[in-house]
Amino acid sequence: MPTMRRVLALALFSEGVLGGLYPGLSTANHTCNLVEPVLSCSDGAQPGLVDTCCVETYGGLILQTQFWNTYTGLESKGQLLPKDSWTIHGLWPDFCNGSYTQYCDLKRQYDPEPSPNTTTARRMARRYWTGQNQPSWVLWAHEFSKHATCFSTFDTECYGPEYVRHEEVTDFFSTVIAYYQDLPTWRWLAEGGIEPSNKTAYSVSDIQDTLKSKFGKVPYVGCSGPRFNETEAGKGSSDNGYTVLSEMWYYFHVQGRVQRAQGVPVDATGSTTSCAKAPDAVWYYERTPCAVAH
Ligand SMILES: *[C@@H]1O[C@H](CO)[C@@H](O)[C@H](O)[C@H]1NC(C)=O
Ligand SMILES: *[C@@H]1O[C@H](CO)[C@@H](O)[C@H](O)[C@H]1NC(C)=O
Ligand SMILES: *[C@@H]1O[C@H](CO)[C@@H](O)[C@H](O)[C@H]1NC(C)=O
Ligand SMILES: *[C@@H]1O[C@H](CO)[C@@H](O)[C@H](O)[C@H]1NC(C)=O
Ligand SMILES: *[C@@H]1O[C@H](CO)[C@@H](O)[C@H](O)[C@H]1NC(C)=O
Repeated sequence: MPTMRRVLALALFSEGVLGGLYPGLSTANHTCNLVEPVLSCSDGAQPGLVDTCCVETYGGLILQTQFWNTYTGLESKGQLLPKDSWTIHGLWPDFCNGSYTQYCDLKRQYDPEPSPNTTTARRMARRYWTGQNQPSWVLWAHEFSKHATCFSTFDTECYGPEYVRHEEVTDFFSTVIAYYQDLPTWRWLAEGGIEPSNKTAYSVSDIQDTLKSKFGKVPYVGCSGPRFNETEAGKGSSDNGYTVLSEMWYYFHVQGRVQRAQGVPVDATGSTTSCAKAPDAVWYYERTPCAVAH
């Protein structure tokens, strides 16, 4: 464990800048409940015009990202995947124009202590936020350090003069879970007749259309694995997209603090998939049975 932590810390310190997003921000009077929520990325969502603790002014395009993995690599340690459910990758603040930054505050590069404590957040994270080839807590710590520090509403000053160290870490985990709970990718796909199969492959357009009909906007569909043009089925094809379904990114603008979990769905910006576009080129693999919790 200590070695793992050191590696993580080194990786984190190799990029980014030191300091909070808005240096000099006061801890006083961030009474967000008293002001009308402003939509991120709208004209009014500017640091000079609103309280940056009450409106996401830094990375206003929010992505809730999910994984489809077929194993965890730590099954023998009891780290399993939830049945009939995708798992959490994270919650990312992109700039409104679709570009992004990361590791915005090297003073807040946390070990996952305290990890989400008690009640819903802890239970949900253990169940649905699962690392692959690494303990889940390493993924949580990484996601906090890399992304949570780039939200204006998770700045520590926002928590007022009574701020308790690590308060925003737990708050971030709860927030990620709140968004994730409204995005049941597994069920949405199943309702469209798209279920994991090691026999039948799918068309990325069907996956995207099905999710658009549920979410209202087009999510980004991510694939990994071999490129189509390098598989048997795709021999001679010029389609070099990837063939193993592995990620889903849902995009939002948010009303007021991200923590309120009032997202307004928007279409994915830029490219909407890394998967092969040829018909029936994408595998949505079944999980290894012993990797699934029952
Ligand atoms: C916070 O609000 C109180 C009450 O309205 C006011 O007296 C105080 O000056 C404000 N503090 C700051 C730093 O704005
Ligand atoms: C996107 O917005 C960010 C933040 O305002 C800015 O730093 C960056 O240069 C912009 N990128 C492009 C490609 O416009
Ligand atoms: C979790 O929170 C409870 C109540 O706030 C506290 O008593 C307990 O020590 C905490 N546990 C851990 C592991 O931090
Ligand atoms: C498949 O596409 C990749 C990326 O464009 C290319 O580098 C590779 O040579 C192609 N492979 C074949 C067998 O055509
Ligand atoms: C399905 O295929 C994937 C990818 O090869 C594999 O990891 C998984 O164990 C297979 N699942 C079943 C139930 O055969």
